[in-house]
Amino acid sequence: MSMFEQAPARQDTPINPHQFIIRQPTPDDGNAVHNLIHKSAFLDNNSLYCYLLLCTHFSTTSAVAMMGAKVAGVVTAYIPPQQPDTLFVWQVAVDAVAQGQGLASKLLNDLLARDNTRHLSFVETTVTGNNTASRALFMSLARRFNTSVSESVMFDREQHFLSLHDSEHKLRIGPLERP
Ligand SMILES: CC(C)(COP(=O)(O)OP(=O)(O)OC[C@H]1O[C@@H](n2cnc3c(N)ncnc32)[C@H](O)[C@@H]1OP(=O)(O)O)[C@@H](O)C(=O)NCCC(=O)NCCS
Repeated sequence: MSMFEQAPARQDTPINPHQFIIRQPTPDDGNAVHNLIHKSAFLDNNSLYCYLLLCTHFSTTSAVAMMGAKVAGVVTAYIPPQQPDTLFVWQVAVDAVAQGQGLASKLLNDLLARDNTRHLSFVETTVTGNNTASRALFMSLARRFNTSVSESVMFDREQHFLSLHDSEHKLRIGPLERP
């Protein structure tokens, strides 16, 4: 490094949440999304091919938060064919350095404000029993949209996961009241 080059930002430099740009993912984000999911606690890591498909076929119902050229947050979601009034949120991840500043909420708000999602009345997701941050994120969404949350088991530890994974509880949020 020459004396004129700037030192890289320290990991513990406070992050300004306004510096993020939120946009739809493209296939070129697939690898970065895969890496972010891989290092996130609680999340199942799927194949790179899976994230490439998401960033291609489900880009209009997914979002990335860019910090410069880096993917600092992601929400992957889709509209289930049998539930055209519902956004099913599959995975949400925010880089550890950017957590706790409202970024995941901003990503969800962005998704629900798009032309192709404005008509949706419900959000669904699944959470495991011990994921406090994820539960808090979706409870907060329900408060912002002035609505309630119902909970039921969607995939059961014994029945569906062969005891290899904790039960996934479905949170159904809605009907959404748009601000
Ligand atoms: C869950 C996760 C995406 C939240 O991202 P984030 O950007 O820190 O969330 P936000 O700052 O938007 O917070 C949203 C709400 O959740 C609350 N929250 C966030 N993290 C929390 C935690 N660890 N414990 C308790 N509440 C928490 C916030 O206080 C906020 O509530 P409020 O709006 O009432 O103030 C992030 O912690 C993460 O990537 N975790 C690992 C992966 C994961 O568990 N994903 C979810 C399952 S798909």
